[in-house]
Amino acid sequence: MQQVLNLARHHHHEQVQRHGYGEAHSKIILMGEHAVVYDEPAIAVPFKSVQVVSTITPAINGVSTLSCVYYSGDFDQVPEYLNNLKKCYALSIHKIKLELSKQANDSVEQLIDIRIESNIPQARGMGSSASVCVAFVKSLFDYYQVPLSNHLLRYIVNEAEVIAHGSTSGLDTLMTTSHQPVIYKKSQSPKAFDLNLDAILIVADSGLAGQTKMAVNSVAQLKNERPEFVVELIGQIGDFVKHAKHAIQTQDVKELGRLMTYNHYYLNQLGVSTPFIDHIVSAAWKSGALGAKLTGGGLGGCIIALAETKESAEAIAEAMTLAGAVQTWQMSLCKTL
Ligand code: PMV
Repeated sequence: MQQVLNLARHHHHEQVQRHGYGEAHSKIILMGEHAVVYDEPAIAVPFKSVQVVSTITPAINGVSTLSCVYYSGDFDQVPEYLNNLKKCYALSIHKIKLELSKQANDSVEQLIDIRIESNIPQARGMGSSASVCVAFVKSLFDYYQVPLSNHLLRYIVNEAEVIAHGSTSGLDTLMTTSHQPVIYKKSQSPKAFDLNLDAILIVADSGLAGQTKMAVNSVAQLKNERPEFVVELIGQIGDFVKHAKHAIQTQDVKELGRLMTYNHYYLNQLGVSTPFIDHIVSAAWKSGALGAKLTGGGLGGCIIALAETKESAEAIAEAMTLAGAVQTWQMSLCKTL
């Protein structure tokens, strides 16, 4: 897949014909998922190891087409589950037409071939649907050579995310359009902050789709049944996140690891882990991780672990794979690497 992405980039630079190009990364929640629903803070980081590339060229068969892993054919006939892309297209073209009409340019009516390539696993809490939309919208504006502000990009992608997910906290849109970690609280505007640690984050895919909606609903149900217990857990998770921010600011990698582990235990108490996720988390702990936890909605999805050195990260990734993870990535948290 990396080859395909490189190829798309290569074509972009060749500029042999009119060409639109857009790319986007994914995101990882470092700490605070679920509690964030109840207005506690969460920390999210851009995750650049997996990406989406969208390219646009003039149509060669007299109709606009889309080619992606889920569909290949006439863009007007895309199945309902890709309505988020249709929404992106409609909102983008509306804006592009407005801008081009100011320049007395009507080339927006051109038919196009859209190609979307992604190596972001779907439904793992990495924000794949938002990433696809970000890359697609960027490629449309690039193709028509209309400037695109981050504000407009986020507006369009959020509208599409509402179609894909019903309701959205906006975190995926924010992170797939941001290059900085953020601390996010529902009732406040997100704050970017500096993360520069001599440590490596290992991300492991359990191979099972995360079930965010079901997990969020089950926490809400547990809160109805045992309000004091759940309010206590949520408040504690919020405190771990605040301490984690401090640990990051003071370069205390070990403390961050400990807090991640506590965070996992509390998520487990909230009922959003599974025996398989716990098994992969334990494998990370046993092989020397400073901390490990599930990331995102849970009931599947991904696990993250923190390592102090490259060697340790290799050993942890291997242990997580042996425990059943289908894929792992390593991300340095040191800015200069
Ligand atoms: O599974 P993800 O990455 O979409 O994360 C969900 C995070 C939750 O806190 C569980 C839900 C939310 O809307 O914030």
